Amino acid sequence: MDNRQILIDSLPQGELRESNYTLATTKAPQPENGQVLCRTLAIAIEAGSRAGLQGSASYAGAPKSGIVMNGHAAARVVASYDPAYKEGDLVTCPAGWQDYSVHEARALTRIEGSGDPARYLSALGNSGLTAYFGLFNVGQPQAGETLLVSAAAGAVGHFVGQMGRIAGMKTVGVAGSDEKCARLVSELKFNGAINYKDGGFRANLKEVTPDGVDLYFDNTGGDVLGSALFRMNENGRIVCCGVVSQYDTSNPAPGPKGVPGLLVNKRLRMQGFLVFDHIKQYSQARSEIAGWLDSGELIAWQDEFDGLESAPRALVDLLAGGNTGKRIVRVAE
Ligand SMILES: NC(=O)c1ccc[n+]([C@@H]2O[C@H](COP(=O)([O-])OP(=O)(O)OC[C@H]3O[C@@H](n4cnc5c(N)ncnc54)[C@H](OP(=O)(O)O)[C@@H]3O)[C@@H](O)[C@H]2O)c1
Repeated sequence: MDNRQILIDSLPQGELRESNYTLATTKAPQPENGQVLCRTLAIAIEAGSRAGLQGSASYAGAPKSGIVMNGHAAARVVASYDPAYKEGDLVTCPAGWQDYSVHEARALTRIEGSGDPARYLSALGNSGLTAYFGLFNVGQPQAGETLLVSAAAGAVGHFVGQMGRIAGMKTVGVAGSDEKCARLVSELKFNGAINYKDGGFRANLKEVTPDGVDLYFDNTGGDVLGSALFRMNENGRIVCCGVVSQYDTSNPAPGPKGVPGLLVNKRLRMQGFLVFDHIKQYSQARSEIAGWLDSGELIAWQDEFDGLESAPRALVDLLAGGNTGKRIVRVAE
């Protein structure tokens, strides 16, 4: 069985390009005892994988070329040498950008229920869980407070704003186009949304947060974080989820002004987290998120590319803001 793979051909110098990747074909790997062979159906395209190529994601280790690009996938079990799985089961796995991959059974997550398996890459996967734990466990939202979230029309961000609304907060999103902002308000019921590329961003942020900001969910770092710091209320919280404004470069900028002075004077709490810190609560969180999806309180935006070979283009374009909601690449039926 042939296995198409997208390899990292060279590490990016400056911005990531499609030419940093190359397509190779090899034979599908053979599972051994305790292992499972998986057929990739859909791959999650995630901003954080660019941090891995930059060497700024501790969990990803040092970046390397000549290996299969990493990525989470929804997959079908093709052969199983572990009693926990059988042929035809649907799972998620750290497949990488390739058609077939072999895993220890314990590395797989079973996809429960019917419906599109790709929902386990989105609302019921990394993006929904990151939004959930960052907001509820780290941010500790209170009804009536104002929540600000950056990269608000992205995979994590669009869930954060909606979960904030479910928690009774006033929600404001920051995104990179007027169209994204309009959709956040009209389709996802954000109370407000503003475009950080607009020259009047700071003034607009002030106008759309008349009561200040109690909780800022930061997906971007950079200038948006710099502006948000000045809108924070006393005893506010900043949830540091990611730094997407500084991933697609070889020269990330230093942190914004106001740290630590504003943290001291406003008694702010600024806390980072990684979603897998909360793994023991995944199942409880998935049930709650599934309930919101079923009731229509939570809407999952999905943005799709077709074919394994389109994965490099899908990531390059995501870093430039081309996606709305969760971006996936469909690889097989
Ligand atoms: N802590 C964790 O465990 C964890 C887990 C998953 C993800 N994350 C983080 O969550 C964040 C979002 O990831 P995602 O996978 O959901 O990606 P995403 O939000 O779907 O896509 C990235 C978005 O970032 C925005 N962006 C790009 N350059 C920007 C800039 N210079 N300034 C502001 N916004 C910019 C773009 O939208 P615009 O059109 O708005 O520019 C783009 O759509 C990332 O920082 C990621 O590292 C953290």
